[in-house]
This record gives sequence, structure tokens and C-alpha cells, in this order.
Amino acid sequence: MVDILVIGSLNADLAVRVPRFPGPGETISGTDLETIPGGKGANQAVAAAKLGAAVAMLGRVGDDQLGQMLLDNLGKFGVESSAVRKTDSATGDAIIIVDQKGQNSIILSPGANGKVTPADVESAPPAKILLLQLEIPFETVLYAAKWGKAHGMTVILNPAPARELPDELIAGVDMLVPNESELSLLTGKPVFDRASAQIAIAALMARGAKQVILTMGEKGALAQTSVENGYFVPAHQVTVVDTTAAGDAFIGGLAVAFSRGIAMPEALNYANACGALTVTKFGAQPSLPTAAEVEEFLQAL
Ligand code: RIB
Repeated sequence: MVDILVIGSLNADLAVRVPRFPGPGETISGTDLETIPGGKGANQAVAAAKLGAAVAMLGRVGDDQLGQMLLDNLGKFGVESSAVRKTDSATGDAIIIVDQKGQNSIILSPGANGKVTPADVESAPPAKILLLQLEIPFETVLYAAKWGKAHGMTVILNPAPARELPDELIAGVDMLVPNESELSLLTGKPVFDRASAQIAIAALMARGAKQVILTMGEKGALAQTSVENGYFVPAHQVTVVDTTAAGDAFIGGLAVAFSRGIAMPEALNYANACGALTVTKFGAQPSLPTAAEVEEFLQAL
């Protein structure tokens, strides 16, 4: 049995740094294009593997050069990828622009990610923790959540990219890990600080959510394990180069902490450190920290 199974997306990130985001109809120049392994699913898998967990991934890539690059990168970090199938669509792409403040804009072209079926899920290996996101077909996410629970897994859903969700899924997972805009879209409530977040999380819990961990960027992270019990951990202050995959690093770190029996708020602090280190480097998977880097960072605080 692996510690963590990820059922989700694999993307080739086509990333360019720009001085600022272009307006509608505007053309601006950026840096040379970089092709970087990414995708929320694969990022979370690599994040957990770099931290030392036994990780497996299920998804689809195209039978093309980019698909092979993504599989090679999973292999490089020890992610078990026999459940990542090559399919007759192009590998998924994410077109990413990053401005000078490290903020990004992302356009997804799902490609092979759009072909992951509920039947695929049956070939996944057993795991303690199942990580899900929303970059593969929704019916597959819904099926995977039920399948994971039926097989005794702790199911964590990162509801990204943002979309509305049925109560069946909100109540059907053990933990939701949204960011502020995702929580706002899920609940129809504004989320901009801790107090507004707690109101939105209470609304989600009224719909059956069991635990919610909210990532709040440079503010920190808030965990509500019930309406009454909340933990807030402030973010670590670092120099931001690129925020891409910070949320994925956080979730990978959180899953690893839970798989080792680490409880809140230590688990939050560990995940926060993973997110903080990621924003100090450019790109998705190359910027995810190793266990040694996280230990060193936490000891230096
Ligand atoms: O969360 C960051 C990821 O979102 C990028 O790697 C990109 O592929 C998109 O899926």
C-alpha cells in the first residue's frame, strides 16, 4: 500500500515571465518560453514524493513527447506511475504567464486529462490517503471520492480550478482544501479575512463538509475541524518569485504530515513551509521542496 494516491491531471506548463499582465487586445513581450512539468495532480504527487512519502499517480497523458516528459519526471522523484495511461489525445497543457510580483494567470488545455474515466479509477493501487482536484472530468472525481471512501482511504479534495460542487461531494470527502476564491465561489460568500472565511466555512459545514483547510496565500492557512474548532497558522515571509504550485506544495505537505500521524496545527505549519519554499522559485514541479529543505527552513525560523 502506498501512503498517498493522486488521481488527477498532468500538464506540460508553457510558462513565460512578463513585466505585467496584458490587457484585452494588447500584445506584450515576455521571456523565452519554458516547458515545465506541472498539472495540479502531478504537482501534488511530486510534492509528496519529494518529501519522502510513497506515492502513486493515476491519470492520462498523450502518446507524445510531452507525455513522456511528464512520466519521466514522475519516475525521477519515485512516483509510481503504472496507472498513468497514454491516450490518443495530446498531453494536457497549461499556458502560464507570471508577472514581476510572482502572480500568475493560467489557461488550461485539458487534452488527455479530459479522458480520465471512472473505469480508470479501478486500476489504482490501495493507499492511506487519496488526493483529488478538479482538472479531470467531474464524474470521475465524484466516482473516485466514493471509491476511495469504499476502500477505507482518507479522501482530500482540492476544489481547484474553482467551480460549484454538489453537496454529495462536499459531504463525501474527509477534507476540503480550497483557497479564498475557491471557497467564495463554493459558498457564494465573500472571503477576504479570517472572520469572513469562518462564515463561509460554516456555510460549507452546514452542507455536510467535515473539515476545511483554507489556504490564504501570504496571510497563512486556516483549518476548521468543526464549526467550533479552528487553527490559524500565519504564512512564513519569503521573497516571492512565482506562486505557481504553492497550493499544490501545501497540499502535498499536508498529506505527508497526516500520513505520518502528525496532527493539527503542526501539520499546517509543515504544509505552510512547503508552500513558502515553492514560491521562492520559478515553475511548478522544479520549485517543490525536498524533505531536507523543509527541515532546514523550519529549523532556521
Ligand atoms: O496549480 C498549478 C498548476 O495549475 C500548474 O502546474 C498548471 O499545470 C495548472 O494545472
